Amino acid sequence: MTLPKIFSLLLALTLCACSDEPADNRPGQPVAKRRAIFKEFTRTLEPMGLVARERAPYKRQEFLASAQSLQALVSQPWSYFTPGTDYAPSHAKAAVWDKPAEFTAAREQFERKVTELTRLAQGGDLDLIRAAVNEVQRSCKSCHNDFRRDI
Ligand code: HEC
Repeated sequence: MTLPKIFSLLLALTLCACSDEPADNRPGQPVAKRRAIFKEFTRTLEPMGLVARERAPYKRQEFLASAQSLQALVSQPWSYFTPGTDYAPSHAKAAVWDKPAEFTAAREQFERKVTELTRLAQGGDLDLIRAAVNEVQRSCKSCHNDFRRDI
């Protein structure tokens, strides 16, 4: 096999290594939009998780900025959970639509935990902040247990 042929074969393989999930082609792309926001949740929470687990130094201003970024995101995914948006590639469980009161309660609980984290981040008491990060992570997980299928 010639070198260019090998390269084009490799390229083809790389291009096919994409996930086998269908794209969100529906109008407004609600599933893709909410998933993109959830990914931002993770990106924003991660540096705070490192501080909480003493894997990164605590710097008050930086930490506060992360908490405020998360605070700005927490209200964003929910309006994209409109009726009929449990189509692939969504990993949402039917419970999101079947148990709307519980879903709202989980969301509100989570939003309260993030508000508390942001409040404590202004103060700078690391022990309290650490506990608040754990609480936020727990509320992400608790909602996923009930409302997100395993990925
Ligand atoms: C009130 C419920 C709820 C809370 C709270 C919640 N999530 Fe989720 N999350 C979901 C649901 C439902 C999905 C599945 C969305 C879909 O695929 O349509 C999801 C999906 C995700 C995904 C996958 C995105 C993808 O690419 O498919 C990530 C990452 C994620 N959440 C992170 C977080 C983090 C981090 C937190 C906390 C800071 C959090 N979530 C809080 C309900 C929640």
